[in-house]
Amino acid sequence: MPTLRQLAGPTGLRIGAAVDVNALATDPGYASALGAEYDMVTPDNTMKWVTTEPRPGRFDFAAADRLVQFAHTNGMLVRGHNLVWFEQNPAWLDQAATGPGAAGRMQAALRRHVTALVSHFRGRVAQWDVVNEAVGDDGSLRPDLWLQSMGPAYVALAFEWAHAADPAATLFYNDYGIEEPGAKSDAVYSLLAGLRARGVPVGGVGFELHVTGPDAFDPAALRQQMARFAGLGLQVAVTEMDVRMRPPFSSAQLDQQAADYAGALEACEDQPSCKTFVTWGFTDGDSWIPGTFPGYGDALPFDARLRPKPAAYALQATLMSAPPAS
Ligand code: G3I
Repeated sequence: MPTLRQLAGPTGLRIGAAVDVNALATDPGYASALGAEYDMVTPDNTMKWVTTEPRPGRFDFAAADRLVQFAHTNGMLVRGHNLVWFEQNPAWLDQAATGPGAAGRMQAALRRHVTALVSHFRGRVAQWDVVNEAVGDDGSLRPDLWLQSMGPAYVALAFEWAHAADPAATLFYNDYGIEEPGAKSDAVYSLLAGLRARGVPVGGVGFELHVTGPDAFDPAALRQQMARFAGLGLQVAVTEMDVRMRPPFSSAQLDQQAADYAGALEACEDQPSCKTFVTWGFTDGDSWIPGTFPGYGDALPFDARLRPKPAAYALQATLMSAPPAS
């Protein structure tokens, strides 16, 4: 059976996975299967602020460099994830966001961080999630460390600084819950429309697609949302797909999960602005789901022993029936 990346190649679509660098370093089977099946990687945690700038102005790219080197060796593209978020920040940054002078401190810290990361990986990271999950479920900007210290200007500034550091990288806004119509999707649309109208260099929007239960995903809604964001002149991408389930993981559940993955991939294949499809993890052994949602699991296309599940076969079949790249 051809691998996912062999099937994806002629379609012009990149098929990727979020990578656990520990598994990559310690499990040769994981590394070789990852390199065989996928042609894009993104770090699950190792490019986040808490890892890359644990102390002010002291950068640590060791783990991220290993992943980027692995990608280079295996002919894979890299999605950088992420530059601006409200989670997984070092304590010093959270502290800098409060008290007198916070606006200037945070602006300087943000500029230094974005510039350092994007410059370090210039030419080696094709896409960056520049701003991650900035909009809340009610459609307003999250009252997080960035909004509270700098106001809404932080969003555009982050894109500007990232673009200055690597003009060739495609810069994404990335979020969950925008695959369905509603206040959040509308707010993200308005935010990105406003940025585009002002010439801010945002080039793409990432649909995370963390699906809760195999019956919870509507591919038709995803298609509609992708189409309207693409209408802004943006690339669209599936950036973090997984479909979590509760035991007993019956064959009916696994088949529905497979249909979800296939439905999302088909939506991407049919949308000319979608060239990227990424799952959040590679196997059920390296998924964030069991640790964060006790009682849930089995969310990915490959099992913990690297064996393809119905979802992997469904992705293969979907790629096989895709039209060749135009
Ligand atoms: O590194 C510490 C370790 O020192 C400590 O012993 C251990 C004890 O809990 O925690 C470790 O940190 C964990 C970290 O992952 C690294 O493994 C955190 O507790 C844990 O919360 C963190 O979870 C990550 C989560 O983001 C944080 O929100 C997941 O692995 C990661 O997959 C997940 O990824 C996010 C995307 O970045 C954005 N979109 C949603 C997605 C899922 O939440």
